[in-house]
Amino acid sequence: MLKDLFIGLSQNQFLNSAAKKYGLKMGAQSVVAGTNIPEVIKSIKELNAQGISCTVDNLGEFVFKEEEATSAKEQILKVIEAIHENQVDAHISLKPTQVGLDIDYTFCLNNIRDIVHQANRYDMFVNIDMEDFKHLELTFNLLDELSLEYDNVGTVIQAYFHKALEYLERYQNYRIRIVKGAYKESEEIAYQDKKDIDSNFIKLIEWHLLNGKFTSIATHDHRIINHVKEFVNQNNIPHNQFEFQMLYGFRKELQLSLASEGYNFCTYVPFGNDWYGYFMRRLAERPQNLNLVAKQVFNK
Ligand code: FDA
Repeated sequence: MLKDLFIGLSQNQFLNSAAKKYGLKMGAQSVVAGTNIPEVIKSIKELNAQGISCTVDNLGEFVFKEEEATSAKEQILKVIEAIHENQVDAHISLKPTQVGLDIDYTFCLNNIRDIVHQANRYDMFVNIDMEDFKHLELTFNLLDELSLEYDNVGTVIQAYFHKALEYLERYQNYRIRIVKGAYKESEEIAYQDKKDIDSNFIKLIEWHLLNGKFTSIATHDHRIINHVKEFVNQNNIPHNQFEFQMLYGFRKELQLSLASEGYNFCTYVPFGNDWYGYFMRRLAERPQNLNLVAKQVFNK
């Protein structure tokens, strides 16, 4: 299956390192907002001007060397400064493995603590993205420890897990982004069928909204978005209790129309040289995204 092929490719460390050297290629430039901080700030300003807030991801994964993890942390600290200096409406998303989770738990915790501390000075939120199941409990541990000191930190719950509702109940008091889930997980722990994942996704969103909690609903699925719109109307859930999120470059018209209808909207804006794994996961989710590749190749 194409999905498995692209997920497999996304985890290929050789191709990942090779891609870093060659800049944005293969259509990645349509879904990655540049390779440096001035470029990403420019993209954020354009989105903000259209009423859209942003969460910024300095792309990176498969980091097994301390100096690379430290340099990723330094770069994220620079992004925080740039967001603050430019007074743009944006916060941070980061992946724990980028700042050392595969090297050493405490080293990673200290790196994220530095980031959350700096963001906290500017009242800026930091989302810890959720990676594959292997990292799930460790990521929850990071959140548990950081939240003893800071309240500007939250994470992601992936609806494909059988235990997703249990996770959501456990972390209901945090700022949570709910997603379907992007990694390949086994049938022992995760739903494989799209219908089951979608219905669990809706269950989690409804549960969290009815619980009165702020909910980030991250999906490009117009059916789910329409369902949420009806659900919030029927249940008198105020618009300031939730936001829709989508990835940069996808369904741009829908992003704009939701923002102009008055819904809170936040675009996930990835940037940097380490685009390969991120881009392959997008192809895995939706092989039609290969169109992006074709367009770039033929527009040259
Ligand atoms: P899905 O791929 O299930 O598509 C459903 C339907 O929507 C399609 O059949 C089609 O009709 C329509 N559709 C989807 N994409 C379209 C497009 N580009 N153009 C036209 N129609 C389209 N995952 C994770 O494991 N950890 C994380 O931390 C995050 N973080 C995250 C943040 C944000 C902001 C988003 C949007 C997503 C994530 N994800 C994630 C990824 C998430 O788990 C999931 O893999 C993708 O969002 C794909 O699922 P969707 O719900 O978007 O639609």
